[in-house]
Amino acid sequence: MLPVVAVDRGSATPFHRQLYEGYRQAILDGRLRPGQRLPSTRGLAGELGLSRITVLSAFDQLLAEGYCEGRIGSGTFVARSLPDGLSTPVARAGRDGATRRGGRRTLSRIAAALERSPAPWLMTPGPFRVGDPAVGQFPLDIWSRLLSRRSRTIGAASLRYGDVLGYAPLREEIAAYLRTARGVRCEAGQVMIVSGSQQALEIAARALLDPGDQAWMEEPGYWGARDVLRAAGARLVPVAVDDEGLDVADGVARAPRARAAIVTPSHQFPVGGVLGAARRLQLLDWAREAGAWVIEDDYDSEYRYDGYPVAALQGLDRDSRVVYIGTFSKVLFPALRLGYLVIPPDFTARFAAVRHAIDICPPSFLQGVLADFIRDGHFARHLRRMRLLYGERRRALVQALRQELPGPLQLFGENAGMHLLAVLPRGWRDRPIAERAAREGLWVMPLSDLYLGRASREGFVLGYGDVPASDIPAAVRRLRSILESARR
Ligand SMILES: Cc1ncc(COP(=O)(O)O)c(C=O)c1O
Repeated sequence: MLPVVAVDRGSATPFHRQLYEGYRQAILDGRLRPGQRLPSTRGLAGELGLSRITVLSAFDQLLAEGYCEGRIGSGTFVARSLPDGLSTPVARAGRDGATRRGGRRTLSRIAAALERSPAPWLMTPGPFRVGDPAVGQFPLDIWSRLLSRRSRTIGAASLRYGDVLGYAPLREEIAAYLRTARGVRCEAGQVMIVSGSQQALEIAARALLDPGDQAWMEEPGYWGARDVLRAAGARLVPVAVDDEGLDVADGVARAPRARAAIVTPSHQFPVGGVLGAARRLQLLDWAREAGAWVIEDDYDSEYRYDGYPVAALQGLDRDSRVVYIGTFSKVLFPALRLGYLVIPPDFTARFAAVRHAIDICPPSFLQGVLADFIRDGHFARHLRRMRLLYGERRRALVQALRQELPGPLQLFGENAGMHLLAVLPRGWRDRPIAERAAREGLWVMPLSDLYLGRASREGFVLGYGDVPASDIPAAVRRLRSILESARR
């Protein structure tokens, strides 16, 4: 790429001098960075319509003054250490106070209200980061084979924009899986492929809510849903959660006319309860009477260790009021960024219009690979293996917690998913402990972060999906010593 260096043909300054000054300025401004390659003299001369001698003479001067260095046979590069102690723009900005800013610049109220950067326990892999599956166990050899098979057969037609709802064969596979394994009532025509549940929530929020509308949120609840709904301008109403999930009566008392309820009925995040049949029917009845929507986030219910998986709430819905969301982040791997929405059939076109306004359609290539992976039986096989593995990791964690920390921690939600909740005794504060643990490379998500209002309980969400069973006792012992010093 050629940097923009203007040559003024009407100027009295010779061309080689103009070029030299233009490049020198670009280096000093940081538009060209140390180590960056300059264009070839021949190419630049051709581009600017100058003689090669002119360009050579400008470059000779830059080389002589140390702004550039030449490597024989490989071209001319910006010097790695600049002359006169001239510093990079970042360092200069520090010295001068700040980079220049023109006038007042403001963010939207929504952007200003969002967290500036994710908390440390959301950022770095390691024990006990929530949400990480056992990535080392993913059958990468099979995945790579399917990838290369797809890339060998890719044709020009697959380079065009795809279907707004996603790749049809993948939607067929997902619909069949959801009908059989999750009790979802759906056809492929209702399935929209999205980049994970986060985008599914965003599309649902934009399609169903106007700014200022009330939406029920589980209290405590999923931080990702809270952020998306806030960004959509919804007014979030915290609704109490107990060991059986969302307390529907509390929601009705707090916001009877809310436009939507966002729920995790099969495995409440983070407490772990299953929404019982009576509450499910109560929720659907309320939605019908209030003209509200139920947004079901079914993020990890493939993993249940005692008894059968709990069927989706969507399967009970007779009024087309449930929008169902699922993801491949837990059952395959989160970097895939693939998930899905199941939309009531009469609203698919409206959801498609909303999606088109956001990103037109999902990227096509990996959808094909995933469709092959499911169709060829690898998905079902991987799920079976992972269920056993997470069951073992869960046992190791529960055992270690009971052994090392029998007194203080009370456990919830340990019979499903890839995380459990450990609640602290009254009077303990979870955040300072989580911050201290983070400094020691232990990622424990504080429960109090997951409340919209004041936390009524404090504790930690502990993910075990990506922690080998053999590493768990030592990690729990580290947690114990952190808790002991917090107590002191
Ligand atoms: C409640 C809940 N929903 C959804 C997800 C997954 O989000 P995504 O599909 O965007 O990766 C998570 C991940 O931790 C979660 O805890």
